[in-house]
Amino acid sequence: MVFVILLILVSIATVGSGAGVLNAITGGAKIVGMDALVNHTVRLKKVLKDTTLVTETDCIETMFMSPFHHPVTFTANSSIGDRQDPTCVWNFVGTEPCLPLITCPTFTVPCATSSLTITDGVYGYESFCGDNKPNQIQASNDLRDLYVTLNGSKSVNLECNVVCGRRGQKGGVVLGKKMEPKVNANCRCGMKANDNRIVGGEDAIKNEFPWLVALVEAGTRQPFCGGSIINDRFILTAATKIPKKTTLKSTSFILGHCFKGRFLDIKNIEIIVNGHILDSTPNLGVLKVKPPPKKYTDLAELARIDAANGSSRFAAEEVFVHPLYVSETNDFDVATILLDRPIDFKAIGKAGPICLPELPLSYMRTFGKRHATIAGWGLQGLEKEGTPTILQKLVVNVFLPSECKSLYAHRVNRRMLCGGFKEGGKDSCAGDSGGPLVMEDKDKVWYQIGSVSWGDGCAKEANPGVYFRTTESGQWLRHTANRNGAVWCDVPE
Ligand SMILES: *[C@@H]1O[C@H](CO)[C@@H](O)[C@H](O)[C@H]1NC(C)=O
Ligand SMILES: *[C@@H]1O[C@H](CO)[C@@H](O)[C@H](O)[C@H]1NC(C)=O
Ligand SMILES: *[C@@H]1O[C@H](CO)[C@@H](O)[C@H](O)[C@H]1NC(C)=O
Ligand SMILES: *[C@@H]1O[C@H](CO)[C@@H](O)[C@H](O)[C@H]1NC(C)=O
Repeated sequence: MVFVILLILVSIATVGSGAGVLNAITGGAKIVGMDALVNHTVRLKKVLKDTTLVTETDCIETMFMSPFHHPVTFTANSSIGDRQDPTCVWNFVGTEPCLPLITCPTFTVPCATSSLTITDGVYGYESFCGDNKPNQIQASNDLRDLYVTLNGSKSVNLECNVVCGRRGQKGGVVLGKKMEPKVNANCRCGMKANDNRIVGGEDAIKNEFPWLVALVEAGTRQPFCGGSIINDRFILTAATKIPKKTTLKSTSFILGHCFKGRFLDIKNIEIIVNGHILDSTPNLGVLKVKPPPKKYTDLAELARIDAANGSSRFAAEEVFVHPLYVSETNDFDVATILLDRPIDFKAIGKAGPICLPELPLSYMRTFGKRHATIAGWGLQGLEKEGTPTILQKLVVNVFLPSECKSLYAHRVNRRMLCGGFKEGGKDSCAGDSGGPLVMEDKDKVWYQIGSVSWGDGCAKEANPGVYFRTTESGQWLRHTANRNGAVWCDVPE
């Protein structure tokens, strides 16, 4: 993950001089290094008390709804008709004390040419036009976020305001229509191969984690980050940052956490599904070793080796980064990757998606004092020159939020959870980033509660790994990954 650079240098020195990183599984994630130096002015960010507005373009905005939220207004008029793409997006990321409530006093949106769609991304959506205008609209099922899309035209004139609502708001109108994501009833999420050994940081068994993927440099078998399959088109991983004024998606350049150096170019990223033995990655930016990547110039040979290892290779078509990701603090450290083609779970019988925690029930859960499992090809110690070739796994303790806070103070917030051991010794590390932290929550059904994000060094005493808390982006993940005809698998009863 990303550390503040000074902390990182200190961490490396400490770990390098012999702290016990015995069984650290390490990997792509805790990338130590340059991210903090990346220029962060590309996104115009205004901080109004605790209210954060991220403007990606003048027509794509995300508002973080804090309890100190000031009422905000979003508008559109005939000038939208002059755009090449007359689509505007406004995201309202809710918090427990401040659920967005949308009303549009000015609403000229002729049905013939335009529409305003509001969705919570999980259960409810509704399209408004003509006389049907939004009035005190809130998310269904006690969800928090609302995502608004305007398909505009020259005849549009719109002024809407968003205030803080509460659960069961008086006068609030929940989104009426039910979302119907495509679900394949012939596959199930969260099905892990059995291995009853007690895990203290050791080799995984082959295909034990059907959802686990490796992000590799294109044309190699060298991982730099981990990720997980959430449906047949989308991978969940750690955040990236988009450097230019672009739309939410980026097709050519990405930057940040897992994505730096040559991985700024999406063409240099490939995804390996059902990986187990990979080539060692010599340089994760921790030690300054820079041997060239082990490229296979003969692509037929690479395909043969992939196939002989039982794995499949995909290209990355688009990356969607959480609009509230902040590289300096690792807040909202989550992104999804759209694969170049669907994963055929029937043909690739050993691959399958992980289940996402159910909403809104899981908002309240800390998962504290439970065990969870991580897996990855990350460094087995920051002093190591390369990543292990065999997939490693480790069972960690999930800390109570109060324990996590007592170790990291203001550096952790409710989008983060601590996992590991107070005494250190075992941890995720550089190269594991973006990899899933999973828990057997129902009998034999596995859910992703976190993904590897950051930490001070690896496996140090009183410095457990910090994971992005998946529940906090559950709506955004479902909303984002519910496009390009993506098909989900059934959640087992
Ligand atoms: C960051 O961007 C600003 C504004 O474009 C520029 O003045 C500054 O030099 C940049 N800093 C770095 C480190 O590139
Ligand atoms: C129309 O919208 C544009 C862009 O948001 C804004 O600059 C302009 O002032 C608006 N015009 C009117 C008449 O409100
Ligand atoms: C908005 O416009 C796009 C492109 O014209 C279209 O694909 C999409 O279905 C429209 N969405 C709605 C909600 O009408
Ligand atoms: C499987 O992958 C490893 C690592 O890339 C490689 O060394 C090995 O030769 C492959 N196995 C086969 C049977 O090709």
